[in-house]
Amino acid sequence: MATLGARPPLHDGRDFRELVGVAALPTAIPLVRSFARAKLSAWGVEADHGWECQQVLSELVTNAFDITGEPLPGELLALDELAIILVQLRISAQRLIVEVRDSGDGRPQIPDTGVNDEGGRGLRLATMLAGTWGWYPVAAPKPGKVVWASWALDREATS
Ligand SMILES: Nc1ncnc2c1ncn2[C@@H]1O[C@H](COP(=O)(O)OP(=O)(O)OP(=O)(O)O)[C@@H](O)[C@H]1O
Ligand SMILES: [Mg+2]
Repeated sequence: MATLGARPPLHDGRDFRELVGVAALPTAIPLVRSFARAKLSAWGVEADHGWECQQVLSELVTNAFDITGEPLPGELLALDELAIILVQLRISAQRLIVEVRDSGDGRPQIPDTGVNDEGGRGLRLATMLAGTWGWYPVAAPKPGKVVWASWALDREATS
């Protein structure tokens, strides 16, 4: 179920929350996956959800660096030229929520993809794995958006 324009439940102060920033480069994907694996394992989230979360993050972070403009192969950008993608993991009200913030234009939407189309599958896959997703625009410190996905957890996190 997509809830475009809606925000996920807010962190209520009693649950878990961790944030990481990565440069908009393909190397972001393994970094973010290992960040998610370590955090969710430490929080006691079941391995199935941990795996699903890594797949969804791969799709959302790939979209984020697609939209913010990836450097050409061999192009060495200065640090202040690289776009930064923020990734937040939260557990709130028995739900796992992943949020990916980029500073690119455009609107995430699931396209009508035909069998012969090469792309247009990432958000559909994310929806199938997570169940609920959405996005909302943000203005500061740079205009952009947050794309999020959320799962119901079967049991409480243990640490
Ligand atoms: N973070 C984003 N910012 C702006 N537009 C986005 C973002 N994420 C997705 N979109 C838009 O939604 C479309 C669908 O995204 P989706 O991930 O499903 O497919 P894709 O990235 O085009 O192809 P694939 O993921 O299969 O390689 C994208 O083509 C893009 O136009
Ligand atoms: Mg994609």
